[in-house]
Amino acid sequence: MTLKEFCDGTRDNQRIQCVLDSPTLDGEVLPFVKFLDDGHTAYNRLHTHSAWRKHRSLDVQKATSWVLIHQGLYHTYAHHDSDGYSTWTQVLSGYKFWVILRPKSYDSDTNRNQLYDSANLYMEQTPKKDGFYGQESERTLIYAGPGDIIVMAPGTFHEVFTPVPSVTIGGHLYSYNALHLTELSRSLDKKTDEKFTNTSHPSSTLTVALMLAALPLLKDKGMFFCIFILFYLNYCIVLHQKPLAALCRMVQHPAAYSPPFQDVDFPAWKLWNKGSKKKTLEDFEFANKVANSLIKNLKLSLTVQHYPSKNPEKPDFIFDGLGFHDPGDMVEWSFCVPKLMSK
Ligand SMILES: [Fe+2]
Repeated sequence: MTLKEFCDGTRDNQRIQCVLDSPTLDGEVLPFVKFLDDGHTAYNRLHTHSAWRKHRSLDVQKATSWVLIHQGLYHTYAHHDSDGYSTWTQVLSGYKFWVILRPKSYDSDTNRNQLYDSANLYMEQTPKKDGFYGQESERTLIYAGPGDIIVMAPGTFHEVFTPVPSVTIGGHLYSYNALHLTELSRSLDKKTDEKFTNTSHPSSTLTVALMLAALPLLKDKGMFFCIFILFYLNYCIVLHQKPLAALCRMVQHPAAYSPPFQDVDFPAWKLWNKGSKKKTLEDFEFANKVANSLIKNLKLSLTVQHYPSKNPEKPDFIFDGLGFHDPGDMVEWSFCVPKLMSK
């Protein structure tokens, strides 16, 4: 469909249409997002540390910033956003009925199979005669108008009704503080062949790996630096046990997640290094080194070993404590991060 066809269609009452996932020409991102987005900034932090890291996948840019254009009466069915990304959106014009929903049995679920069954039960239920199909979930309605901002954690199920023509901007991000939810969401996508989600970002595995490789740049810089970071919060990082273990899991077991690993720079490296048996670039290898060190020194080995497991009903630390949303205890991590690879 061309933009002209879309515009013509807005005057046709027989059509309900939308343009989803449209890239923004100016990369519009709200100012606060830079304090939350640890994924895409990892590419920039490492830009002088890996000679072969030349490109950032277009997929990364497209995930960072997009536009949604909807004609009135459009309904987006329940889904969670893909690849364990958090999402921010801002309505520019028009209105949205944005519904956050949570399957009722999530609170009592203690392993991934149960969580999958809960989500499946909701997604596959047959609508009643009046069209209502939300009996297996609790729901919160957000009525959003121009200027309103919504931020959603990874794996948050939501559906949206657009009553009037509207334009919404938004973007996805990974945060060091929410990676336990990212990991859980990505593992659900793998198990369900992405049936709960809306698109696919093949750059995800590389992005989380670079987040781990960038950790040495975020180590404790001393008291004066800490005072400095109060004004520049993008260098202030406190890590918790579950997100850190989840990050190590995703880097060490990329095949356990969806979509498959893709590295846009590796083919060029292969061309220059014919015959080499290496399967990843040095920054990805370094991420594995960081993971090994964290697992060993922070005693995360049990938690990381338990998944991927042939028996997903085995104890899984993601569900420890107050449940899967709880990030766990804060951990002192900087002492065991290896020295950054040479420039
Ligand atoms: Fe969505």
